Amino acid sequence: MIANSPIPPVVPAGHLARHPQPVLELPHELGLELRPWRPSDADSLLAAGQDPAIRQWNLFHVASPEEARQRIERMHERWQAEQGAIWAIARSDGDGEAVGLIGWNGIDLTGGSAEIVYWILPAARGGGVAVEAVKRLSGWALEEVGLHRLRLCHSVANPASCRVAAKAGYALEGTMRGGQLHADGWHDMHLHGLVQGDPLGGGTV
Ligand SMILES: CC(C)(COP(=O)(O)OP(=O)(O)OC[C@H]1O[C@@H](n2cnc3c(N)ncnc32)[C@H](O)[C@@H]1OP(=O)(O)O)[C@@H](O)C(=O)NCCC(=O)NCCS
Repeated sequence: MIANSPIPPVVPAGHLARHPQPVLELPHELGLELRPWRPSDADSLLAAGQDPAIRQWNLFHVASPEEARQRIERMHERWQAEQGAIWAIARSDGDGEAVGLIGWNGIDLTGGSAEIVYWILPAARGGGVAVEAVKRLSGWALEEVGLHRLRLCHSVANPASCRVAAKAGYALEGTMRGGQLHADGWHDMHLHGLVQGDPLGGGTV
């Protein structure tokens, strides 16, 4: 319970960190799973940091293999601190290559909310990976963790991300004017939300 608050936390502190970060399956036909990042995934993170679309829309830059490895270490520290939870979207057979990233920033267990973030490397785009990964991770957050409200934010100039949000069931709730500073200036941002009781996959497409 929050000190001096009559309202109990939505999810008690320690609920995430007392377990190892789980591996989550995606639909079999994708041949992919969500798993924690490994030090050996540094090359995939470095590739993402060089991709113009990921740099533009995720504001994501990685300058060196060493920085990529540090970022992966930091992901594990954030899981332990229950501040973030970031998965690799990785091949479930063969080399286990990481082809994307998905996870939660701004986890607020007490208030019951978090923000989803994602990117897919160019070779794996256009096959429904982002939509399936968002649906799987949102189901996990609502049903297995017990969060109440999930949000998804993207620039209004990024229609692919808007489509991912709608297909995964995140309702468009409004536009945050000047919501985020990008490399080319301030962008208005769409705010999408998914709350307990909403249908995953939504029927909004
Ligand atoms: C946006 C992104 C995550 C989508 O990943 P993906 O696995 O290719 O997405 P999916 O295949 O699950 O679905 C994409 C949907 O967006 C649509 N789409 C793709 N580009 C589009 C565009 N320029 N305009 C409108 N819709 C677009 C696709 O047609 C598809 O919808 P459909 O299945 O109805 O045809 C990926 O392109 C990416 O990482 N982009 C660069 C970084 C980025 O934008 N990150 C998100 C920051 S909020």
